[in-house]
Amino acid sequence: MFPLIRNRRLRSSESIRRLVRETIVTPDDFLVPLFVVEGKDIKEEIPSMPNYFRMSLDNLEKETKELWQMGLCAVLLFVKVPDNLKDNKGTEALNPDGLMQRAIKTVKNACPEMLIMTDVALDPYSSYGHDGIVAEGQILNDETSEVLAEMSVSHAQAGADFVTPSDMMDGRILTIREALEDEGFQNTGIMSYSAKYASAFYGPFRDALDSAPVDIANVPKDKKTYQMDFANRFEAIRETQMDIDEGADVVMVKPGLAYLDIVREIKNEVDVPVAVYQVSGEYAMLKAAAEKGWLDHDSVMLEQLIAIKRAGANIIASYFAKDFIRILG
Ligand code: PBG
Repeated sequence: MFPLIRNRRLRSSESIRRLVRETIVTPDDFLVPLFVVEGKDIKEEIPSMPNYFRMSLDNLEKETKELWQMGLCAVLLFVKVPDNLKDNKGTEALNPDGLMQRAIKTVKNACPEMLIMTDVALDPYSSYGHDGIVAEGQILNDETSEVLAEMSVSHAQAGADFVTPSDMMDGRILTIREALEDEGFQNTGIMSYSAKYASAFYGPFRDALDSAPVDIANVPKDKKTYQMDFANRFEAIRETQMDIDEGADVVMVKPGLAYLDIVREIKNEVDVPVAVYQVSGEYAMLKAAAEKGWLDHDSVMLEQLIAIKRAGANIIASYFAKDFIRILG
């Protein structure tokens, strides 16, 4: 007896494979993270993120135009704040002329159609490297949410299209939504980092922004009291559902690759767009292995991006966006 059904028929040539392929990644899927620094004519490579850069506003302008020309349509902004401007309350985050606020305007001027999302959390502004205000060894929840709401309004005033709270305080989506409504920003969206795990994959990002928690007495050494325990699954659904109920337009799972089970589960559970953040450590791992000649960079990159999309991502925040466009040719 021969097999009647031969699945290999659908794999027998590239043309049939193209015809039946279930998942494709396109430039429309990407959200491009960008790191901004003070200064002029600065484009410095981040040591643990080969070929990824911190840039001053003049280079941010050039980069924005280049990304748009390449077919990319959305950026996610982060700033590296000088030490002398950091404090426990992240006061500088509210400066209407702060680096983030100027970065938003720079992108808007360079390319009015480019969608601008901004990171909302205190860590780059915090002298302790935490996403919230520290008091007596704790990260204060409600006080932090109030600052995040003011920060969101400030980003909206500067021209941000979406604010993206990445802090994991309870109730902050509602606090932010109400503040945006009160100030007349009913069209400013919220992409919530809703299932964000306490992950060691964020290491290179904290190098990039000099934002790691500091090692001093009475300051928590890690972010485990607010970011999620990576052993948990049900909690991710609860967090995500609550953020939607509080007004999140888009939800996110972070990191990516090691959490694709969570992505699929959330995708099956909710009806808002789901973003996935392929984080700095994931980028660093592939760059390092490729540099050693141990993995083929482009093939592994594509496999990973397809896997993220296949798991259910509608949006992929990724440092590989430009590399992906390059292989499209
Ligand atoms: C800040 C923030 C972090 C990342 C995005 N926003 C770091 C952290 O939570 O410590 C990580 C992104 C990456 O690793 O690429 N709240």
